[in-house]
Amino acid sequence: MQAMYERLMKSYEYCKRKVDFNPKVALVLGSGLGHFAETIEVVGEIPYCEIEGFPVSTVVGHNGRFVFGYIEEVPVVLMQGRVHYYEGYSMQEVVMPIRLMKLLGAETLFLTNASGGVNKSFSAGDFMLITDQIASFVPSPLIGANIDTFGQRFPDMSEIYDKNLQQVIRNTAREEGISLQEGVYLQFTGPNYETPAEVRMASGLGADAVGMSTACEAIAANHMGMKICGISCITNMACGISQAPLNHEEVQETANAKAELFQRLVWKSIVRMADLKQNCLEEKQKRLQVEIFTDGAARGNPDGPGGYGTVLEYRDTKGELHTKEYSCGYKKTTNNRMELMAAIVGLEALTKPCNVKLYSDSKYLVDAFNQNWIDGWIQKGWKRGKNESVKNIDLWKRLLQAKEQHEVEFIWVKGHDGHPQNERCDVLATSAADGKDLIDDVVSE
Ligand code: HPA
Repeated sequence: MQAMYERLMKSYEYCKRKVDFNPKVALVLGSGLGHFAETIEVVGEIPYCEIEGFPVSTVVGHNGRFVFGYIEEVPVVLMQGRVHYYEGYSMQEVVMPIRLMKLLGAETLFLTNASGGVNKSFSAGDFMLITDQIASFVPSPLIGANIDTFGQRFPDMSEIYDKNLQQVIRNTAREEGISLQEGVYLQFTGPNYETPAEVRMASGLGADAVGMSTACEAIAANHMGMKICGISCITNMACGISQAPLNHEEVQETANAKAELFQRLVWKSIVRMADLKQNCLEEKQKRLQVEIFTDGAARGNPDGPGGYGTVLEYRDTKGELHTKEYSCGYKKTTNNRMELMAAIVGLEALTKPCNVKLYSDSKYLVDAFNQNWIDGWIQKGWKRGKNESVKNIDLWKRLLQAKEQHEVEFIWVKGHDGHPQNERCDVLATSAADGKDLIDDVVSE
């Protein structure tokens, strides 16, 4: 392993000498994204074969090189052509390019690949946001002596795919009108495609897609402390799900057909990630902590202030409590509409990005928000009137929009049984326009 460390350091020094550049995001280009490099502002490139002791991709159509450049303002390194375990390299070698990109400065890793759809609700040509992975069918790239300067001997894998980055990709897909599935990626060794029995097994184990890369790269990157996200292009339904025999050319064809859309999704997501990062670094620590209660019950007092609306609370630096109350603006409460409106009114009242704890006694509302049911409803193109949730689709969209400005933790608190009909709702505030002053007041102190 010491030998691997030295190999990597040698590669690092060669790359630094050849292209002195500090990438922030590393992007691994899977099938179909081969032309991505042509869309960025390139500042330099290094073919893998120039780097002594470096694995070289042998797959047709994967010309192996690093490309350095900018996506808008974001400094990136692209891995054009990855190395696969089935090419005969050890897993430690397969992940060398990932480790090198981290050494060169990349803190975020964006993985892309082509995969076979196992989840029967997917179709060939879909994109799948990778939310987790199964790597148990390939050797771990961490086997062997641990390189302590890279990471721990027993690294945690409870959240390989960063939740914030996932949300950025979801938001980007929604804004771009690109439909996005989500699921678990399972890596087999390849190079043979799976048998129908293996695909049934993968399905039983909880996989939504299968492929021959990615999971090992994510493990190495996680070991080194990178933030990771990934998207699969489902180029075909896996063997046995689709009755047709598989071949590489067809996989390539679908990947190429989806390339333009895939490029757009990746490009825009990376731009948004940089914005997110900027926000996080510069603003997060400075942000105010605000608590919003979607009704009095969530505040432990059904009939007290905010009993029929929303309450915002903020404690300033001197410890003084500031409270503002709004009615939610609905006289009759049906199907969480009041809580939904109250959450929106509360969030929209904040004129600056805040760290928000949002409390509601509606389990349904909290689950819909935290588990992204809303994205699913919107992606299915549900129209008003189909069922109660969907009747409120415009409100759900407004909630998502309001939430984007803030760091929101949505917390369920047990409330009382049922809500009294809301005849006390005489101050109508269907938007926070009349109350956009709580945070301004406090910040301008
Ligand atoms: N199986 C494994 N890898 C793949 C597939 C598949 O069906 N499609 C694209 N890469």
